[in-house]
Amino acid sequence: MTRSGPGQAATVLAEASRALAAILSGQTADEALSAFAASPYRAAVRAVTLGTVRWYLRLKPAVDSLLARPRTLPREIGALLAVAAHQLEYSRNAPQLTVHAAVDAVKILHHQHASGLINAVLRRLVAERQDTFAQVDRDPARRTAHPRWLADALLSAWPLHGLRCLEADNVHPPMTLRVNCMQRTPGDYLDELAEAGMPGRLLEWGTEFPDPPAVVLDRPVAVAALPGFLAGRVSVQDAGAQLAAPLLDARPGMRVLDACAAPGGKAAHLLELTRGQLDLWALDIDAGRLERVRENLSRLGLSAHVVAADVRDPDMFWDRRPFERILVDAPCSGTGVIRRHPDIKLLRRPQDIPAFAAGQLEILEAAFRMLAEGGRLVYSTCSMLPAENEAVVERFLARSPHARALSTPAERFAPGALACRWGVQLLCGGAAQTDGFYYACLEKTTSGIM
Ligand SMILES: C[S@@+](CC[C@H](N)C(=O)[O-])C[C@H]1O[C@@H](n2cnc3c(N)ncnc32)[C@H](O)[C@@H]1O
Repeated sequence: MTRSGPGQAATVLAEASRALAAILSGQTADEALSAFAASPYRAAVRAVTLGTVRWYLRLKPAVDSLLARPRTLPREIGALLAVAAHQLEYSRNAPQLTVHAAVDAVKILHHQHASGLINAVLRRLVAERQDTFAQVDRDPARRTAHPRWLADALLSAWPLHGLRCLEADNVHPPMTLRVNCMQRTPGDYLDELAEAGMPGRLLEWGTEFPDPPAVVLDRPVAVAALPGFLAGRVSVQDAGAQLAAPLLDARPGMRVLDACAAPGGKAAHLLELTRGQLDLWALDIDAGRLERVRENLSRLGLSAHVVAADVRDPDMFWDRRPFERILVDAPCSGTGVIRRHPDIKLLRRPQDIPAFAAGQLEILEAAFRMLAEGGRLVYSTCSMLPAENEAVVERFLARSPHARALSTPAERFAPGALACRWGVQLLCGGAAQTDGFYYACLEKTTSGIM
């Protein structure tokens, strides 16, 4: 929140409270914040809302411990307490100004009757902040602001690394770039960035990947300011996501299906690595999201067959000519990208995970049917939960006599990658500072085309 008069500060707190209340009712952060797109304070509202969302599951128990009856508050007032507590704990604003602004925000929210309560609770939080948070922080799930079910799942899946993952979920990610190898080498682009006052470094992969390294900027910049962005010299893409295309090992002239393609980052990478010489089908069930694929390909000067269809329904789009390579970047819980989308911590429910896993298996099986004999399919997710990753591959292999898993030794894959029974897992914020990703390489042994 910027330092300014109480009017602006109160409005920012009130608008952020409304946005948070909407997210707590099930909207995504993007949906909730779109209601404030015309606000003169939209940048501050966004920063305060996302900061509060990131830390909500730590802030809420702290505030609740100061309330006699936490559950009886109107939703926006409960949200205002969390937003103001976030300012008290994580901003450098003078605490008294935040308390005053929160009391003014109560009026903007038309809940004047709650002014006394807001004032009393926040003043107590100012006075007892350290003790209050020390109590909350005894519990790792609360200290790292995760829902208990997710903290438990990650800690039990990754006993040695789970706590570090929970902590990494709250750290802002670096800005990572994929240099279009049809136009520049990453080293040359790094020089171009340095000349433009945007220093960065190359992120080297394991020996499995002679492919171009990612570029990590020292400090994030506006995307449009990147040299040659509009001319297609570079794209913004997490380094972990940049492993999908090399793993698929597509060669010029091949027929390739990207079965879940939008917004098109990995599809574009596949085309860049083969100098545009693929017969690439970029498929997605969401026609709206496919617009992003078209925009990305057009900016990069690349082309593909962009098809709106459900991959589970091949009769609607497939001409029965098998694909030599298939990428299944399946829809998932997104638990590997929480640092970019902290609302995932508030929106996901434990029962979503088996539902995602069932959908992933269906998509994987449908895509595999379209794979050529001897062809390769890469299954990937941005989840860190084995239930969506190796458990899906395990079930798939048990039901698919024509499938076999190719080995991807973790130590040759990427720094910090963990070997799973099938495939490899990158955990969020591991040695390579990537998002969390899972990759498994599968091959069709004899004809299982149907
Ligand atoms: C993780 S995103 C893909 C990201 C993309 N590969 C990239 O790198 O930019 C998953 C995508 O799967 C799509 N999807 C979900 N179910 C699908 C289905 N049954 N058939 C095709 N696409 C599907 C979603 O619309 C979403 O765009």
